[in-house]
Amino acid sequence: MMVRQRKTVTHKSINNETSSSSGSSESSFGSKTFKFLSVWKTGVGFVCFLIAVYISTLGYLETRVNTPFDDDKVVKDSGLAVPDRYWGTYRPGVYMGLKSREPRSPVFGLMWYELAAAAQKGIRHWCDQNDNLATYGWLRHDGVTFGEQLISDPPHNITTSFIKTPGGEHGGQWTARINVTTRGNANVPFVLIWYAALDEALGPAAPLSRLWYEDGAILGHTPQLHNFRVSLVPHKGKLLHKSFSEAHAPGLHLLKEKFYALLKVERHSTFGRLAVLGTDDELSDKEKDINFVPIQMLVETPFVLDVVYTNEDLPTPPLKGEEYSKALKVHQKSFDEEFEEKFKLTEKGYPPPDVGAGRAALAGLVGGVGYFFGAGRVRSQYTREPVPYWRAPLYTAVPSRSFFPRGFLWDEGFHGLLLGRWSPDIAMDIAAHWMDLINVEGWIPREQILGAEALARVPKEFVVQSNAAANPPMLLLQLAGLVRRQPSLFDSPGKHRAALDRMFSRLQAWYQWFQTTQKGEEPTSYRWRGREDDGLQLNPKTLTSGLDDYPRASHPSDIERHVDLRCWMYAAADAMATIADVLLRDSSKYEAVRDQLADEDLLNELHWSPHTQTYADYGLHSDGVRLVRQQPKQPGEATRVVRSVTVPPQPRLVTSAFGYVSLFPMLLKVLKPDSDKLGKILEDLDKPDLLWSPYGLRSLSKSSPLFMKRNTEHDPPYWRGQVWLNINYLALSALRHYSQTGPHAARASDLAARLRDNLVRNVLNEYKRTGYLYEQYSGEDGKGSGCKPFNGWTALIVLIMADDY
Ligand SMILES: *[C@@H]1O[C@H](CO)[C@@H](O)[C@H](O)[C@H]1NC(C)=O
Ligand SMILES: *[C@@H]1O[C@H](CO)[C@@H](O)[C@H](O)[C@H]1NC(C)=O
Repeated sequence: MMVRQRKTVTHKSINNETSSSSGSSESSFGSKTFKFLSVWKTGVGFVCFLIAVYISTLGYLETRVNTPFDDDKVVKDSGLAVPDRYWGTYRPGVYMGLKSREPRSPVFGLMWYELAAAAQKGIRHWCDQNDNLATYGWLRHDGVTFGEQLISDPPHNITTSFIKTPGGEHGGQWTARINVTTRGNANVPFVLIWYAALDEALGPAAPLSRLWYEDGAILGHTPQLHNFRVSLVPHKGKLLHKSFSEAHAPGLHLLKEKFYALLKVERHSTFGRLAVLGTDDELSDKEKDINFVPIQMLVETPFVLDVVYTNEDLPTPPLKGEEYSKALKVHQKSFDEEFEEKFKLTEKGYPPPDVGAGRAALAGLVGGVGYFFGAGRVRSQYTREPVPYWRAPLYTAVPSRSFFPRGFLWDEGFHGLLLGRWSPDIAMDIAAHWMDLINVEGWIPREQILGAEALARVPKEFVVQSNAAANPPMLLLQLAGLVRRQPSLFDSPGKHRAALDRMFSRLQAWYQWFQTTQKGEEPTSYRWRGREDDGLQLNPKTLTSGLDDYPRASHPSDIERHVDLRCWMYAAADAMATIADVLLRDSSKYEAVRDQLADEDLLNELHWSPHTQTYADYGLHSDGVRLVRQQPKQPGEATRVVRSVTVPPQPRLVTSAFGYVSLFPMLLKVLKPDSDKLGKILEDLDKPDLLWSPYGLRSLSKSSPLFMKRNTEHDPPYWRGQVWLNINYLALSALRHYSQTGPHAARASDLAARLRDNLVRNVLNEYKRTGYLYEQYSGEDGKGSGCKPFNGWTALIVLIMADDY
């Protein structure tokens, strides 16, 4: 809609200008002069016209990248209109934080430090790997009313939980409990900080929203919540000292820094000198209002604190003390029952510790769901500078609370596989938010960095998203999977059917965007855009494919074609057909594309190497590349490591990079069950010197020249041998599929059983050994590597345990 409006407005103004200038020339000059002038003027007018058209076209093209898709939004109800998911732990990047699903929600959160160790350990607030916590993560979390988390910061254990009480018109109430114990039940002075803050990223919160301190509690008002109160109620243990501050913080990303600045040293009878909260000098500036109210409590462990949020609108007595303890037990029990009902791990014979690990894997994903609001930064070939995307909300799970506490497009498709089993409501709402981020071109930015807190955690070079960049359409596959698994949600009138209906034009546009922008030079071939050879990388990365440094053609070029993308497009066409079908729309054109991409002769022509008997990418490639240290050209210059090419590249299949990419025709079920190529892939899968390891399938074959090789001086290997759970999940799903029928069924079934056992054993062992799920696992010793906790797609281990694909 916005685009069309823009276009008409510009055309109109051009027409007006030209007509009014020729009109005035006719009346005021003699005929000769008039002719000359008129010709001259028409010429000038024409040039002006061309310039105007050029500029407006440029303006038009420039604005396409951040113009929203022109149709009804998929998300219809948000904020208070969805009362059961209004409040939540929607700040996954902090150890414990709550906010509502509202662009300008007040945020609440916890910080802590050990009095005697404050200097060495600092203050805990954001999930941070450098804090070296022994473990942390949700043990139970239903995504709606309740959650329970264990944080182990030796010698202390901090259990945080929350329970929501629905009711009223303003989002209901909640209680959060912070329970601190110390090893050996020791009594140790410990500092807990609970704060409330207003987000001012969208402009000053006052006068509409306010926060202040009164009678030991945090009070506040916002247009949505009206009057609310947060009381800190000690339930067990000794409170030694309490202080507070009413302050102005420069932004949500600087709360901890502001907290430090508010500390003043005071004399204390027991502790000598004590850092307590004091007044904020900045508030004397009349422009600045209170937007940050921290309360610091010096306690002696063990200590149990109830944080009670009440709303004036709902005068029922809030949950606290023994009553809370009782309610917590009830929630724990019903969560465990629901988990068993959905995944049946106990029934399948898993012992209690493994079932507990499975619950924690799921809870970590559900508890990692956040609510973000803001505008990312994007660019296209027509924008001179990066431009802001439109401001939008995003309700999404995150891959890792410490390292990637924000939304990632292809990750979300994998998250949805598990979330959809737990709660189709949550999975559909998340998909709806993502689909509302599609622009008029049909593009969805791959990484979503919305709001000050999210932005503060992303290195500058990764902030701007290019509209040439794709990312696997896993979200589309996941939606189709949900439709196939639970057709009753979609085949008759209801909220999910209606949402999918609203989504359809967007899904179509997204699908079409891939078809037009990621095409290869040969018919039915595809190419990931965005590869750049800077002379420093051993093999230029393909970030858009999701497989970052997985080796591709050594010299990026337009002749390249990527077998994984071609298979994704097969699966995308198949998914579109499924969704079109259930919505009773025309699915024939998707079926036609799907069938064409499933044509094995075509696939083999583009990607099968008769020589190595494997599928591969095609492009300008040389295996004769290595990293060398370059001597400085001038004295005093630092040496640097660059790529040296010893054998010139040739157009060819990239067969040396055997690994996940080579498996895609099987992974995405492109091959027919009776395909002899499938037989060869299954045979290769089982070879320990290639991809098979006792810990899952390696991303790259041990025999590949780039196996576990660094990509630059600073980039360790990432998708060059490590075991990744998302692709292993796809492999299991495919193996189960091929176990049903055909000449390879027995082999597929045997591989599936062994692969599953390997993955489950290793992921659970590592969880028990270290307290975390990991981004990836070593194919050599099974050890977790990359970032932690990674309860994104690694949480798929729950579905693998349940044998549910
Ligand atoms: C606090 O945590 C400890 C250790 O997990 C537990 O034994 C105790 O019951 C908890 N107390 C309350 C009141 O929740
Ligand atoms: C913390 O909790 C874990 C899990 O319940 C337990 O194994 C560990 O001993 C506890 N640590 C302390 C310091 O209490």
